[in-house]
Amino acid sequence: MKLNEYTTLGRTGLRVSPLCLGTMTFGTEWGFGAEEDVSKQQFNRFLEAGGNFIDTADGYTNGHAEELLGKFVTDGKLRDRVVIATKYTFGAQPGNPNGGGNGRKNLYRALEGSLRRLKTDYVDLYYLHAWDTFTPIEEVLSTMDDLVSEGKIRYYGMSDTPAWYFSRMQTIAEKEGKERIATLQLEYSLAERNIEREHIPAAQELGIGLCPWSPLAGGFLSGKYKKEGNSGTGVGRLTGRGAIFNKFTEHNWRVLEVLQDVSKKLGKPPVQVALNWLVTQPGVTSVILGARTTVQLEDNLASLDFSIPAELRERLEIAGAPETAHPYNFYVPWMQARVSGNVTVRPWRPANIYVGATAPPPEQKAAGDD
Ligand SMILES: NC(=O)c1ccc[n+]([C@@H]2O[C@H](COP(=O)([O-])OP(=O)(O)OC[C@H]3O[C@@H](n4cnc5c(N)ncnc54)[C@H](OP(=O)(O)O)[C@@H]3O)[C@@H](O)[C@H]2O)c1
Repeated sequence: MKLNEYTTLGRTGLRVSPLCLGTMTFGTEWGFGAEEDVSKQQFNRFLEAGGNFIDTADGYTNGHAEELLGKFVTDGKLRDRVVIATKYTFGAQPGNPNGGGNGRKNLYRALEGSLRRLKTDYVDLYYLHAWDTFTPIEEVLSTMDDLVSEGKIRYYGMSDTPAWYFSRMQTIAEKEGKERIATLQLEYSLAERNIEREHIPAAQELGIGLCPWSPLAGGFLSGKYKKEGNSGTGVGRLTGRGAIFNKFTEHNWRVLEVLQDVSKKLGKPPVQVALNWLVTQPGVTSVILGARTTVQLEDNLASLDFSIPAELRERLEIAGAPETAHPYNFYVPWMQARVSGNVTVRPWRPANIYVGATAPPPEQKAAGDD
């Protein structure tokens, strides 16, 4: 695969590169990013390599990331060339409950601010950043639909929401002839695979793309941290101010051990193997890269240059797979054989379900025994 082998953003006509440049590291306000010159170098290098998809948010580095991106795009006269995604949700005005959240008032306030910082009159892809747990689906949907009609956004997406939430929104949009959700943005990596249960099958069923964030689990999958008791040591974002969620878990250390072994066999660094695995996972549209330096970016861009042989992929597949849980234990092949009277049925396409690491069948009983 190459960076300029573009794909469509879900069921839309928008072409995006298989890697997207994340800008949470544009600016140092959050204690772990890059200064303007390095951010600009990364931006230029990404475009030169064939990338066209850039991800930001209104709050990243307190608005500085959007300002830098707006400057780079404007200075380079690149507005038509790049696909800019940004997001709204998080509170920007302490003490003002409507200065944050998913409601219509905040959505318009946040978008106007993003357009100003980005120095543009439209956003290509506008995300709800995270569910605020109470704004009605219909309010978000009708506002996004209006914004497409007004020309302020071209497409919209959902980030960090439950699967039922975006599934219901998409269904209402289809029934009412409104603009459909183009894509999802969720945490997904070898270390964090919970969305394989519900979000990915739902997205595939509903024609929605998927752009994973934190593909290296914040840098954990590079292998630069060492286990120490219940924590980790080493120099990087996760031992500095940038750790949002704890990545030093027993589960993650086990996954890393397998990743390092597979990487050794492939002769590739763990970051490239982790990214390659993710880019080629079912349902994935474009993986959002995070890099603090241009050297890291180069390293990460090289993840498209090879493929992982089936037997090594299988090892990675098993390493961090979410446990089979109810009700998915009903969809494993031996249980389905009981559903169909032990007759093999080949559906018109493989089912959109996650069954996980499956336990062997118990001793067979005749149908109707229980
Ligand atoms: N929707 C959401 O809720 C959400 C949440 C988070 C992020 N995002 C988006 O996703 C993007 C990527 O997320 P992320 O930054 O968490 O991605 P990530 O790839 O998991 O982590 C990136 C960090 O890992 C380290 N790193 C990257 N490449 C490396 C390499 N080759 N070798 C060693 N270390 C390396 C760097 O940190 P250090 O060198 O400082 O250790 C870098 O800042 C963000 O920029 C943002 O656009 C979205």
